[in-house]
Amino acid sequence: MAQGKFISFEGVDGAGKSTHVGAVAQYLRDRGLHVVTTREPGGTPLGEKLRELLLHEPMHLETEALLMFAARREHIAQVILPAIQRGDWVISDRFTDASFAYQGGGRQLALDKLQSLERWVHADLQPDLTLLFDVPLEVARERLSSGRALDKFEQEKDDFFQRVRDVYLMRAHSFPSRIKVIDSTRPVAEVSAQVEQCVTALFDGQ
Ligand code: TYD
Repeated sequence: MAQGKFISFEGVDGAGKSTHVGAVAQYLRDRGLHVVTTREPGGTPLGEKLRELLLHEPMHLETEALLMFAARREHIAQVILPAIQRGDWVISDRFTDASFAYQGGGRQLALDKLQSLERWVHADLQPDLTLLFDVPLEVARERLSSGRALDKFEQEKDDFFQRVRDVYLMRAHSFPSRIKVIDSTRPVAEVSAQVEQCVTALFDGQ
């Protein structure tokens, strides 16, 4: 049986990516595929406990990076690999690009430490497609200030988010065949059309 595909969704907080997870899952299900939607940090019972800590508990930046990858190790073993192997498509709301952007860019943790964690945890696995929802900082900030309580990351200052966005865009430049930048300032219908085009290309190319 053919292996499934792995799609990750990325972007700064407030870029609007989560709105599109369900739509892409439905789009693929309409084409007869089995789809697993999941998220990071989280995606497993242990990972969701780690998410609680990661989003709300102050900690050393290296502890944060290690826990992100610990949750990811579990997520890959319990959810992502088994799904791909049985032919399902996996859509994850964030994956390792987020660690490079937030821990590497935002918190300025050394790149080589993140690269060793990536090699350790998933040397042979990368998403087949990463959709990077991109908006300028002002737009992301505006969308975040909609009233709900902000988590530890969302409370960071503008320069943190600027570094997060810069690293995301640098990675899109370094991995152009995997990471597709979606202009998320456009109205939702137009963003959906951009997303659909990328997903269709992956679907048609299998
Ligand atoms: P997010 O995915 O934005 O969830 P919600 O839409 O519910 O707010 O929140 C996850 C946060 O975790 C986000 O601020 C980015 C951060 N994060 C990292 O810092 N490193 C990582 O490796 C991952 C996966 C997430």
